Amino acid sequence: MLNLGVLASGRGSNFQSIIDEIEAGRLNASIKLLMVDNPNAYAIERAKKHSIEHLYLNPNDFKSKDDFFKKIADELKARGIELVILAGFMRIVRKPLIDAFPNKIMNIHPALLPSFPGLHGQKQAADYSVRISGCTVHFVDEGMDTGPIIIQAAVPVSPDDTEETLSDRILKLEHMIFPEAIRLYADGRLSVEGRVVRIKGYELKDEYIVNPILR
Ligand code: GAR
Repeated sequence: MLNLGVLASGRGSNFQSIIDEIEAGRLNASIKLLMVDNPNAYAIERAKKHSIEHLYLNPNDFKSKDDFFKKIADELKARGIELVILAGFMRIVRKPLIDAFPNKIMNIHPALLPSFPGLHGQKQAADYSVRISGCTVHFVDEGMDTGPIIIQAAVPVSPDDTEETLSDRILKLEHMIFPEAIRLYADGRLSVEGRVVRIKGYELKDEYIVNPILR
């Protein structure tokens, strides 16, 4: 069984989707810790409800960002965490954590990277008025949303979409592909060569590709 540590900053619906897959017996993993950088994160309530240990760390209590991330790495290592999940964690991860978990940190981003990295990926896509957007699960490196891509899923974008309507559409797919990426990892099916992620025996899933022109 794969030991997971989850980092979150807010609502935690992606955290919940992973909990649900584990509890349904579809993901052979165990969440050993939820770490939050925000004491009001609703993710904490979810952790309590499912008897998952949670830990709040205030970045302002540390001398530097590197010290903050070193502390996170130490807490995760102390619990035997094998894969770190960034589930709406709104910070750029620094070297001490990346070095402690090389290609063992996964992030979900609400856009089709490398388009619209950083904050408010859905708003950026709606404002730009692209025809297709989506979400990306990737391994984390030192850049902002630049690490090797594991899975992407696409949704159509309408000229009338707002940040809210597009976010809702994308979020449904986030809740599918994030647990799926973790499952692939847990089943030992992922390998990373440079920025290429290979998935053993993976078949492309048509439902992840939505072409608005052909609908
Ligand atoms: C999700 O849409 C996630 O993709 C995004 O924050 C939201 C968190 O929702 N992450 C980023 O924008 C990271 N740059 P959640 O707390 O309900 O999972």
